[in-house]
Amino acid sequence: MGRLNGKRALITGGTTGIGLETAKQFLAEGARVAITGTNPATLEAARAALGSGVLAIPSDAGDIAAQAALGSKIGEAFGGLDILFVNAGIASFGPIDQLDEATYDRMFAVNLKGPMFLVKALLPLLADPTSIILNGSINARIGMPNTSVYAATKAGLISLARSLSGELISRGIRANVISPGPIATPIFGKMGFPEDVLKSMAASFQAQIPVKRFGEPSEIATAAVFLASDESRFTVGSELVIDGGMSNL
Ligand SMILES: NC(=O)c1ccc[n+]([C@@H]2O[C@H](COP(=O)([O-])OP(=O)(O)OC[C@H]3O[C@@H](n4cnc5c(N)ncnc54)[C@H](OP(=O)(O)O)[C@@H]3O)[C@@H](O)[C@H]2O)c1
Repeated sequence: MGRLNGKRALITGGTTGIGLETAKQFLAEGARVAITGTNPATLEAARAALGSGVLAIPSDAGDIAAQAALGSKIGEAFGGLDILFVNAGIASFGPIDQLDEATYDRMFAVNLKGPMFLVKALLPLLADPTSIILNGSINARIGMPNTSVYAATKAGLISLARSLSGELISRGIRANVISPGPIATPIFGKMGFPEDVLKSMAASFQAQIPVKRFGEPSEIATAAVFLASDESRFTVGSELVIDGGMSNL
C-alpha cells in the first residue's frame, strides 16, 4: 500500500531537479501526478521519464493569468487536489549594488507572487485534507552574501505557510515549508555564471556544509512525501530544514 494511494498531486516545476525526483517518489507511493514547467524540451523529457499517466502542463509560475488557467486544467483532469508542491523557482545571485528591477520582479513573480495566486486559483479544488508544501531555502535563514532577493522570496514562503495554515486549517488544508540547503540540481547552471565561478561557488558551499557534500534531490523528495502524506497530519505551518547542518551547526 503506497503512502499516497489515491491522492492527486500537482508539482510546479516538476521537470528537473527536486521537482522531478519528487514526482517519481509521489508516483511510486501511489499518487496521480501533474507537473509544470516552461521549457518544452525538459517538459517532454520529464513526460517520457515519468510515463504517460503523468500530466505535464506548460505553465509559467510567474504569470498570474496562467495560475487560473492551470487551476482549470487541474480541475478538468483530476476534479480536485490533495497535494500541492509549490516547487518551481528561480535563483539569481548578485551583490545589492548591482540589483536591477527586472531581476527582482521576475524572482518575486516566480517564487512568491505566482504561488500565492496559484493557491487562490486552486482553492475550490482543494480537498479536506490537503497538504500544501512550499519549497523554500535556508537562504531565508542565513545572511549569505549575494542572495538578498532570492532569500527574501523564500522568507516570504515561510511566512506564507503559516498564514495559509491559519486561514485554511478549518477546511483541513495545512501548509508547510521545506528549506533545503545546497542540493545538486541544474539550478546553479541557470544562473549565468561561467564554469570557473560555478566551481568556486560549489566549493565554497561544500566547505560550509557540515556533512561536506551537496544534498541529493531524493533527500528533499522523501521529506515532500512525508509532508504530503497523512503521516504528517499534525505538522502545520512548520519549516523542515534539510541542509546537512549548514544553517544550524
Ligand atoms: N538546488 C538547491 O540547492 C536548492 C536549495 C534550496 C531551494 N531550492 C529550491 O528548489 C526548487 C527547485 O529547484 P531545483 O534546485 O530542483 O532546480 P531546477 O532543476 O532548476 O528545477 C526548477 C524547476 O522549476 C521549473 N521552473 C523554473 N521557472 C519556472 C517558471 N517560471 N514556471 C514554471 N516552472 C518553472 C523548472 O522548469 P523550466 O526550466 O521548464 O521552467 C524546473 O522544473 C526551487 O524553488 C529552488 O529555489 C533549491
